[in-house]
Amino acid sequence: MYDNSVLDAKAFVASQVAEIRNQVGSDQVILALSGGVDSTVTAVLVNRAIGESLHCIFVDHGLLRKNEFEDVLEHYKDMGLNVKGVRAADRFFAACKGITDPEAKRKAIGATFIEVFNEEALKVEGAKWLAQGTIWPDIAESYSDKGTVKSHHNVGGLPEKMNFGLVEPLKYLYKYEVRQVGAELGLDQHFLGRHPFPGPGLGVRCLGELTPEKIAILQEADAIWIKALRDSGWYDKVWQAGAIFVPVKSTGITDGCRTYENVIALRAVNSVDAVTAQIVHLPWELLDSVAAEIIAKVDGINRVVFDISAKPGATIEWE
Ligand code: XMP
Repeated sequence: MYDNSVLDAKAFVASQVAEIRNQVGSDQVILALSGGVDSTVTAVLVNRAIGESLHCIFVDHGLLRKNEFEDVLEHYKDMGLNVKGVRAADRFFAACKGITDPEAKRKAIGATFIEVFNEEALKVEGAKWLAQGTIWPDIAESYSDKGTVKSHHNVGGLPEKMNFGLVEPLKYLYKYEVRQVGAELGLDQHFLGRHPFPGPGLGVRCLGELTPEKIAILQEADAIWIKALRDSGWYDKVWQAGAIFVPVKSTGITDGCRTYENVIALRAVNSVDAVTAQIVHLPWELLDSVAAEIIAKVDGINRVVFDISAKPGATIEWE
């Protein structure tokens, strides 16, 4: 295990490149890219070790942020990664139809992901290894002795269903160290500074049954929220932010007419490792203008609230 207090990113990269080469030899390796920092840093690291023998698969489950699939896929190609984008939103919505329980939803999304990913992986001839962006907090939270809080993270799932060996070069690192390794590998700051985003994506930020319509509303609201944080300089001072679709209707008024629509909750927290989190004390003026913009521009929303709950007590994601 690495001593987390004194990570030497340069030495870490050199030793992992040697270790990965030694582990996989001339075998083919596959990796699921999520658009997030952990899987991307893993991909660039493994790519540095074995080049084109790494085959990345980026699945669009329809639960990504607005325009994220297209933008990130382009970025991956620019980074020189051998990546295939797979559009599969319909399959995910079909699998989640009628499901309202958060854990059942997570499992349906996870199972569909494995199905789609497996189909793609089988197309890669000679693939024997699966590289994953598992990091230390994923492991620590998934095996809590008090039982599973959420069946999340990159632990379990894929490898159990597939006959692959695992390559997990980041598994003893914290998030901030993953960012240091990413910087050492030359990833740009804009990408490395991206907030963590859950594997099931907006699926765990859209309460109740998932439909393409609700997700489209959430994507619009989330895009306004994230842009406002970027424009105001707050994005980089926040550890994680997002919008949540709350399927509770309340009365509103627009142009003198009564409306009866859903709620968007805004969340912005600071954390070190996601095990605890505190709300960020954002300026009221910022919250005020974001709420007004969402209500004015996003059809189906007439009320916006700010979540002031810390973790523990609450969790970061609502589901
Ligand atoms: P919670 O909601 O448990 O989240 O406080 C802690 C961190 O984990 C992320 N998270 C997930 N990541 N799959 C993931 O890959 C998931 O199902 C999942 N659920 C939560 C969350 O975004 C936060 O950073």
